[in-house]
Amino acid sequence: MTSAMNLKNCGSVLVTGASRGLGLQIVHSLASGGFSPGKIIATARNPANTQALLPLLKLAASKGGAGGAGGMGIKRAAVINMTSLLGSVELNWGERANNFKWYPYRTSKCALNMVSRCMAADLEPDGILCMALHPGWVRTDMGGSRAPLSPDESISSVLSVIGGLTEKDHGSFLNITGEMLPW
Ligand SMILES: NC(=O)c1ccc[n+]([C@@H]2O[C@H](COP(=O)([O-])OP(=O)(O)OC[C@H]3O[C@@H](n4cnc5c(N)ncnc54)[C@H](OP(=O)(O)O)[C@@H]3O)[C@@H](O)[C@H]2O)c1
Repeated sequence: MTSAMNLKNCGSVLVTGASRGLGLQIVHSLASGGFSPGKIIATARNPANTQALLPLLKLAASKGGAGGAGGMGIKRAAVINMTSLLGSVELNWGERANNFKWYPYRTSKCALNMVSRCMAADLEPDGILCMALHPGWVRTDMGGSRAPLSPDESISSVLSVIGGLTEKDHGSFLNITGEMLPW
């Protein structure tokens, strides 16, 4: 049994970008994995909605005792930003830098990493866990057919990491083995 079973204890899970790729796989895995949360909210592009959820996150966190006894984790409220190790400034050197000269993608993920840290600092008083997660190299429209991981393999690890998140992971940048990645 993996830590993903902890997702069963979540009242609700919000998945953005759920129309295809990894977002869609997360919804499939959550809905059929034997560890379905109480409610799955899946969104596709609709910018007018994605901050409307902040009050609900705060409410969920407060039920676990924000600032009180309950530690941070998915049993209260958590924001998981799907990033990439290509957003790591430190890892962008040598062979890795030469193989992936994707300036716009790297820059956007680097910015997302900063957003994750800013959110972590901002939402800490509310008891909302925020972190950035690299899902591995996956065979999706974006990852392409040469990627080593299927969406199912990636997401089963992703959900396991998410299920095991605790206070110590707040503000972190992790890969799907739960290992810390350098910013
Ligand atoms: N696949 C990999 O190897 C890999 C590796 C590292 C990190 N990641 C990250 O994992 C996440 C999912 O990647 P993926 O492989 O599933 O990609 P994908 O197959 O290209 O799917 C992208 C998803 O994001 C949505 N989306 C794209 N641009 C958007 C926007 N501006 N606003 C709202 N939604 C938008 C798409 O919606 P539409 O259908 O409406 O276009 C689609 O649902 C991405 O953040 C990616 O950077 C992937």
